[in-house]
Amino acid sequence: MSIKKNRKWCLASRPVGLTKESDFEWKEVELEEIKDGQLLVRVIYLSIDPTNRGWIKAESYLPAVQIGEVMRGIAIGIVEESRHPDFAVNDMVQGMLGWQEYLISDGSGLTVLPKGLPVPITAHFGLFGHIGLSAYFGLLDIGKPKSGETLVVSAAAGAVGSLVGQIGKIIGCRVVGIAGTDEKCEWLTGELGFDAAINYKKESVFRRLKEYCPDGIDVYFDNVGGNILDTVLALINIRARIVTCGLISQYNAEKPVPGPYNYGNILVKRARVEGFIVLDYFDRADEAITKLAEWFAEGKINYRVDIIEGLKNAPATMNRLFDGSHSGKLIIQVSEEPKVN
Ligand SMILES: NC(=O)c1ccc[n+]([C@@H]2O[C@H](COP(=O)([O-])OP(=O)(O)OC[C@H]3O[C@@H](n4cnc5c(N)ncnc54)[C@H](OP(=O)(O)O)[C@@H]3O)[C@@H](O)[C@H]2O)c1
Repeated sequence: MSIKKNRKWCLASRPVGLTKESDFEWKEVELEEIKDGQLLVRVIYLSIDPTNRGWIKAESYLPAVQIGEVMRGIAIGIVEESRHPDFAVNDMVQGMLGWQEYLISDGSGLTVLPKGLPVPITAHFGLFGHIGLSAYFGLLDIGKPKSGETLVVSAAAGAVGSLVGQIGKIIGCRVVGIAGTDEKCEWLTGELGFDAAINYKKESVFRRLKEYCPDGIDVYFDNVGGNILDTVLALINIRARIVTCGLISQYNAEKPVPGPYNYGNILVKRARVEGFIVLDYFDRADEAITKLAEWFAEGKINYRVDIIEGLKNAPATMNRLFDGSHSGKLIIQVSEEPKVN
């Protein structure tokens, strides 16, 4: 049997500000033979997520990636060899496979993807998986939107945000998205059915929100924190719900970030601010996937993916999340898909 090589990105230093390629080390090692109870997975698609930046900063909801360790990453791969009773050769699996071409695993944390679904493999990142679950449970369980209410979502043209707005429309909300380019705003209102969209890099968010949310804001799905959160807080209604999904405006901050100036409005408006971590919802995944698949089949929900070729590009690609120069769910293609799945 020929010896397989594994190429991988390992953490070399804790980045300060935006991540640099030199914060990672590219390593090539020989793969060992698998033992009883193990399987060999070839990574096909690697999800590039804003939370990757947090994982190399400090301990948060997961331990920090340690210097010298392979970079943590959610990925989809194919089982090439198996001596594990629960995994067969050619099974497609999803889990923390890491920023590498191959993983030898004992199977823990891996989910076998259902075969024969009428969607591309990348839908497990763009529509289902951690992205779909975040949008579905974050909005419905935490935001609790009701028909006729006004929902505002930031990073609205991103992976999570674009699904949140569409689910809001299905529920019957007035939906206003905030995004960073005119093209993204046009996609939201033109194709995804948002009622209005604001280009926060060109327009006054406060003025536009006042105009587009004449009845105030009932639910804010916050992906960004910072100034946009502050502006929304100024316009919330009594009993508003703020879903703290992400704080991307702060992930590269080099010093502690001050809290919102309009914090007092949470008291005055008897609002609720609640964070969530999608990992807490994995045991309810089927519920979200069934609903998202149904809406997708009915043409009520759509998604887009931005696929970058080559694992070598992972560190540079991560920074595209912060300048917004990607379009939809950001994914690295590490190796070829199997011909038939
Ligand atoms: N809590 C959880 O369990 C969970 C799970 C998944 C994701 N998240 C969070 O959800 C958020 C969205 O994640 P995603 O995977 O869907 O990424 P994404 O929205 O596809 O990409 C991030 C987007 O954020 C916007 N952005 C970047 N810097 C910004 C800034 N300073 N101010 C305003 N917008 C900024 C950019 O779009 P523009 O062009 O519009 O600027 C960029 O495209 C992130 O905060 C992430 O950490 C949380």
